[in-house]
Amino acid sequence: MDEDVREKLLKAGEILRKAVSEAAEKIAPGVKLIEVAEFVENRIVELGAKPAFPCNISINSDAAHFTPKKDDDRVFKEGDVVKLDVGAHIDGYIADMAVTVDLGDNSELVKAAKDALYAAIDVVKAGVSISEIGKAIEEAIRGYGFKPIVNLTGHGLLPYLTHAPPSIFNYATERGAKLEEGMVIAIEPFATDGAGRVVERGECEIYSLLKPKPVRMKMAREIIKEVQEKYRTLPFAKRWLSKAPEIIISKLVREGVFRAYPVLTEVSGGLVSQWEHTLIVEDGGATITTKD
Ligand code: CO
Repeated sequence: MDEDVREKLLKAGEILRKAVSEAAEKIAPGVKLIEVAEFVENRIVELGAKPAFPCNISINSDAAHFTPKKDDDRVFKEGDVVKLDVGAHIDGYIADMAVTVDLGDNSELVKAAKDALYAAIDVVKAGVSISEIGKAIEEAIRGYGFKPIVNLTGHGLLPYLTHAPPSIFNYATERGAKLEEGMVIAIEPFATDGAGRVVERGECEIYSLLKPKPVRMKMAREIIKEVQEKYRTLPFAKRWLSKAPEIIISKLVREGVFRAYPVLTEVSGGLVSQWEHTLIVEDGGATITTKD
């Protein structure tokens, strides 16, 4: 891997883990979600990187893709299982990381996802198949009596692309693409006391540019231009845009210009924990960019 690229990946990771650990400290009952989201996104910029996607704060049965709205007054509550999933990038080189903050009594559930992540990291090296990683994750989570979420996966990271191949399954799968030296991957086990599957629920605040097309409406053109200039192909939140009328955003999704990332919630209402690091795959091991 190019030395310059490696340096950017490591720097993005270092900034991200600092911003995330500071933000996690702020999560407490009564604190507003938007406060934590804006804190971490601003902190990433202060430290010299940019957010790679909107800060995800998914609580309890919500597993992914929740980010607060602009004037959101929702607050953290006693007992919440809070997943903080954040990304930072430098010139498109992305670090992606998640932690779970337990405001109640779910330490076993939280440990299940964390242990699964480290069990997976232990097997990562060039030549290992994705199915071995999934097997390590599934075994660790089931060892605690919980289930992995089977339709959420880790993923590759490419410049300005948060979800590149390969998909890294959270269970032992037959599909076995192999890791290659120099691949940048995010491993993110999700553990649940529910059925082990997520479904979309109505709410959606996160989008990305899929395919710019000529559109007739002036405001739609302006929105596309703002996204192209500021975020390229990275996910963005509606609250990041200077204007984002629902009717235009939905139209752009229907026309295939934007991709929507609706909130994903555990199908049976189970609680969900998550833990994530970004790694550079090497011969004989890996470097975790988001960890000391
Ligand atoms: Co990720």
